[in-house]
Amino acid sequence: MDTCLVTGVAGFIGSHLAERLLAEGYDVFGVDCFTDHYPRSLKEANLQRLSPSPGFRFFPLDLRFADLRPLLSGVAYIFHQAAQPGVRSSWGTEFELYVQHNVLATQRLLEAVKDVGHDLRRFVFASSSSVYGEVEELPVREECLPRPYSPYGVTKLAAEHLCVLYHRNFGLPTISLRYFTVYGPRQRPDMAFRRFTTAMLSGEPLQVYGDGEQTRDFTFVSDAVQANLLAMQQGDDGGVYNIGGGSRVTVNETIRMLERITGVAAQIVYRPLQHGDVRDTWADTSRARAELGFLPQVSLEKGLRAEVEWIEQR
Ligand code: NAD
Ligand code: UGA
Repeated sequence: MDTCLVTGVAGFIGSHLAERLLAEGYDVFGVDCFTDHYPRSLKEANLQRLSPSPGFRFFPLDLRFADLRPLLSGVAYIFHQAAQPGVRSSWGTEFELYVQHNVLATQRLLEAVKDVGHDLRRFVFASSSSVYGEVEELPVREECLPRPYSPYGVTKLAAEHLCVLYHRNFGLPTISLRYFTVYGPRQRPDMAFRRFTTAMLSGEPLQVYGDGEQTRDFTFVSDAVQANLLAMQQGDDGGVYNIGGGSRVTVNETIRMLERITGVAAQIVYRPLQHGDVRDTWADTSRARAELGFLPQVSLEKGLRAEVEWIEQR
């Protein structure tokens, strides 16, 4: 079977993706450097499910510094998930880390692929809804002029542009998937559902930024993973695709759903709006549907139940 390289394999989405690729029979090379955005122990736990698989090899490398060329020979597919994530934490001195992990690391990987990636059939980049910023027309289409509203979004857009221009200049088979707020088991501990559920199950207050009437097009992790598998064979080289779950609701509504699922009444503390947070996201996924065959399968209710169950089991 073909070999896939998954960067950021110890992270939330990367670990799910690697698990699915192994289940499909691919060999997987996984790369991660355990950045301290959240505790290493959580990332090691994510890796635990992959390690026993004979098709899996882990390389504890930092894409910013490692010689990536030896890793690439014979690799047919790259899924570049590694990044410094998080919209609200990308201000101030932190920005330098975002530039390093999101822009410079991506450019180094693309350069290595340009030089030795002769067997590569697809380079799938994990882009983000944050490239859009505040948009006037919803649902947002890929043609909309991207105007990020956070420093994080600026770095994801820069990396996405690098993927496009390495295709245009050197013919690299890149494709970018703009994920919209992904959730599910193993979600990062800085993200809303993980924080809300953990607080509710511990009887502690949870914090809502702003009035809670902001909306997100929440995407269950298996749907984001499925988009990656579809993008291996389909879609345009150099193309960008919205990947949204089709579940656009307000933050307040998600808390009401969590109350129903957990049976716990949330103690909500409203906090000031956070810099970098956009008011609304909503993906027009007609391009992904037409060109990749992407159709999200998991409703918010079902996906939230899966995440809550996973948090309860921990
Ligand atoms: P995550 O932090 O759980 O996973 C990212 C992993 O990349 C981490 O394990 C980290 O250690 C690793 N990493 C970072 N820089 C690295 C480097 N230089 N070398 C090697 N490894 C490195 O994040 P996630 O939520 O799983 O996000 C995965 C990707 O999807 C990211 O590119 C993120 O920007 C993008 N994305 C995520 C969401 C979401 O809602 N989770 C939405 C849109 C886009
Ligand atoms: C998420 C990811 O964290 C980013 O990495 C990703 O790039 C982005 O999606 C994307 O779609 O591109 P975000 O939408 O902020 O970013 O996801 P959450 O952290 O789950 O937040 C969702 C909403 O809940 C936001 O409006 C946020 O302000 C709010 N929130 C979050 C709270 O009210 N309280 C919290 O404790 C956490």
